[in-house]
Amino acid sequence: MAQNLHVLCFLIFFIALNLQSVLSWRIQNSTNNIGDQCPPQPHPLGMCKSRVAAYGYPCEEYQVTTEDGYILSLKRIPHGVSNADNSTEDRTPVLLFHGLLVDGFCWVLSTPKQSLAFILADSGYDVWIANCRGTKSSRKHTSLTPEDPDFWDWTWDQLADYDLPAVLQFVYNQTGGKKVHYVGHSLGTLIILAAFSEHKLIDIVRSAVLLCPIAYLHRMKSRLIWLAARIFLAETIHMLGYHEFNPVGPVAQELLGEVCTDPEVDCYDIFSAVAGPDCCLNTSTTCIFLQHGPQSSSVKNMIHMSQLVRKAGIRKYDYGNKKENMKHYNQPEPPLYNLSSIPPHVPLFLTHGGQDFLGDVPDTRHLLRTLVRQHDSDDIEVLYMPDYAHGDFVMGYNAPQLIYKPMVEFFKRH
Ligand SMILES: *[C@@H]1O[C@H](CO)[C@@H](O)[C@H](O)[C@H]1NC(C)=O
Ligand SMILES: *[C@@H]1O[C@H](CO)[C@@H](O)[C@H](O)[C@H]1NC(C)=O
Ligand SMILES: *[C@@H]1O[C@H](CO)[C@@H](O)[C@H](O)[C@H]1NC(C)=O
Ligand SMILES: *[C@@H]1O[C@H](CO)[C@@H](O)[C@H](O)[C@H]1NC(C)=O
Ligand SMILES: *[C@@H]1O[C@H](CO)[C@@H](O)[C@H](O)[C@H]1NC(C)=O
Repeated sequence: MAQNLHVLCFLIFFIALNLQSVLSWRIQNSTNNIGDQCPPQPHPLGMCKSRVAAYGYPCEEYQVTTEDGYILSLKRIPHGVSNADNSTEDRTPVLLFHGLLVDGFCWVLSTPKQSLAFILADSGYDVWIANCRGTKSSRKHTSLTPEDPDFWDWTWDQLADYDLPAVLQFVYNQTGGKKVHYVGHSLGTLIILAAFSEHKLIDIVRSAVLLCPIAYLHRMKSRLIWLAARIFLAETIHMLGYHEFNPVGPVAQELLGEVCTDPEVDCYDIFSAVAGPDCCLNTSTTCIFLQHGPQSSSVKNMIHMSQLVRKAGIRKYDYGNKKENMKHYNQPEPPLYNLSSIPPHVPLFLTHGGQDFLGDVPDTRHLLRTLVRQHDSDDIEVLYMPDYAHGDFVMGYNAPQLIYKPMVEFFKRH
């Protein structure tokens, strides 16, 4: 029994964070074969050639090395299709930072009229697309390889401390010192809030857009993730000797396949129960997402995420005992990120969904209370989308009208 429970929870944990499977099973509609509708089509050419240039947009590729040695891939769409001749002087840079278990591909999944990166380029912005450490195009390091356990010795603390500043500073430098608009989705919001709360990067960020902000997770609506965090599942995986968290690794896939072919199990419902039911995804967009595939993170990062679910408050990674914490932080408890100390004049645009079980309503309200109370009212805008879940904000067919249009208006005012 205990053994079964353990296997079940292991499974649930993978399912919980496995957006690809969420979508694939949904398209599959329990019985049809997804292979018929979305044949696997790896993109050996990379994002620039396979998607951006394919639509006639310019695309540049850069490499940025973080202070701790990770070599990150950064893409740039310097202008749109119809505004190539406009003066570059007028173009403000925008940096797009993806969420957990995906990469920069998520901003170009649909047609130019539907995807945020293209829409911003066509609206006159200089668009930069980050790919954090561990994702397909950012798996290089000055001295380590992904086979080294040390390559995976990081959590979002390091994304906030190293990846984010390296990429932002690079964009700032490359554009001759222009302040950058920032757009983060999901985990991409937590890292900028963490940096702001330590009064970092404020001088080079012009405004920040937070799509499905993730900060407090203590009231997480997804019971399955909550359970996975409760039983220390990520810690168990770590103890088993895994360092890279690959959501489409063979173990996860095999377990998933077995459970979902059982006619008693309605996978459609399991997945909706985890990430929240997306209202507005087009099959064609989801297919492209599936073909590109979800991305790896570190198991340690997963442990840090589950610490947020278990304990109220947002702290740095907890090494689990006072001695180790003393060694890393010089205090017995990991330091707190105090979101109340985010300077009130940083322009913020937050948008969250009523159906999002990950960036759930009670936790997001808590975040809003923290931020809005002391923020200058002209500099904060909140957009609530009652029907939206986690994926709709980057892939929803009506997001251009409902989200990106007010976002561009917001940029114009700041
Ligand atoms: C999904 O399955 C249900 C019943 O099993 C059916 O009514 C519905 O039409 C199917 N949807 C698609 C898109 O195939
Ligand atoms: C580009 O320049 C044209 C005039 O040359 C102007 O009408 C248009 O609004 C500009 N587009 C953008 C996106 O700035
Ligand atoms: C940006 O420019 C500053 C000042 O010239 C330099 O110190 C810094 O290393 C540069 N950073 C990046 C990421 O290019
Ligand atoms: C997506 O779906 C909506 C609603 O079904 C439809 O109006 C729209 O044209 C679709 N977009 C694409 C790119 O397929
Ligand atoms: C967080 O910051 C606010 C504003 O600077 C301050 O009033 C509050 O005491 C801080 N809270 C903690 C726990 O440090």
